[in-house]
Amino acid sequence: MLEYCATSPDHVFNADSGEELIEAYRSWLPVSDATPVITLREGATPLIPSQALASRIGRGVRVFLKYDGLNPTGSFKDRGMTMAISKAKEAGSEAVICASTGNTSAAAAAYARRGGMRAFVLIPDGYVAQGKLAQALLYGAQVIAIQGNFDRALAIVQDVANQYPVTLVNSVNPYRLQGQKTAAFEVVDALGEAPDWLCIPVGNAGNITAYWMGFQEYRQAGLSNQLPRMLGFQAAGSAPLVLGHTVEQPDTIATAIRIGNPVNRDNALRVEAESGGGFMAVTDAEIIDAYKLLGSEEGVFCEPASAASVAGLLKRRAEVPAGATVVCVLTGNGLKDPATAIENNDAPFHTGLEADTAKVAEVMGF
Ligand code: F0G
Repeated sequence: MLEYCATSPDHVFNADSGEELIEAYRSWLPVSDATPVITLREGATPLIPSQALASRIGRGVRVFLKYDGLNPTGSFKDRGMTMAISKAKEAGSEAVICASTGNTSAAAAAYARRGGMRAFVLIPDGYVAQGKLAQALLYGAQVIAIQGNFDRALAIVQDVANQYPVTLVNSVNPYRLQGQKTAAFEVVDALGEAPDWLCIPVGNAGNITAYWMGFQEYRQAGLSNQLPRMLGFQAAGSAPLVLGHTVEQPDTIATAIRIGNPVNRDNALRVEAESGGGFMAVTDAEIIDAYKLLGSEEGVFCEPASAASVAGLLKRRAEVPAGATVVCVLTGNGLKDPATAIENNDAPFHTGLEADTAKVAEVMGF
């Protein structure tokens, strides 16, 4: 694991400046003047208050949604990818590779192509949401769909990167986590303090590790007085960190976190111990309930995996201390997976109606 010490802890991000993430937090990141910054203006995503969630918990609890689905390729992966691709470019790399449940492949493809590099992405055939596949293809990656799950794809790309001149940009690449830790900086910059609880979906456990790194660095620099409890939520059919062992055949509607053997397992267990946090499973039904609630009551469209953080908070609501501040991380944009939205909603949808004003008024209830 790459260690990096902040050099000028007084830099506070200015969301209005239009700076890309690496410029906004340059002193906290392992970059130099020699690093070519490959950017799509990622980061600076909104922290949205959620009254619908706060009122379900009560007791003066405040809830915020860190909506990282508003990054350029629609997920938090862009934070890590601007770093990983910039550093790969600096090192003279001409090609990158990753395994992915979809979002990493979209981000890797976009940033690699922007940096003039080739991108190879391995995905589990049939288990990547349509929007993500569309992105990887449109950005011009070579997409290789294998008959196996994400865990198998990751093992293959690690082998390939060891044997051939391609840079691995999965979250075992330390620059990925360096970039992703900036989300924690933004949360503290926005709240003026670290939250009491940070609820986050967990697959490969890179993001929870990165957030913890960010919170710790800000605390060490005196920019916050406290550290959050880190609560990681996995889908019940893909919950190796909850069960304490690898899941051979992971299964969940939240395909982004359909992972049975998280590569950052040791880091995840360290974060749990250091933060007094925990891992918990949420069922697909609980994930879909939270997903629908966010859309229909808050106007926030996230992808199913992201809603695991909210499903988890609601499941543990009785344990939230009175007056606490909670942040739920929404990792990806709902538009990534339109099929799941179309199949899981309670909206009245009238199809094939005659094009007639009276008929329209009638179904409107007038
Ligand atoms: N949420 C979304 C939307 C994701 O795409 C992922 C991971 C996670 C949560 C979990 O993050 O792995 O750092 O614990 N997606 C990876 C991918 C595996 O290939 O896009 P994690």
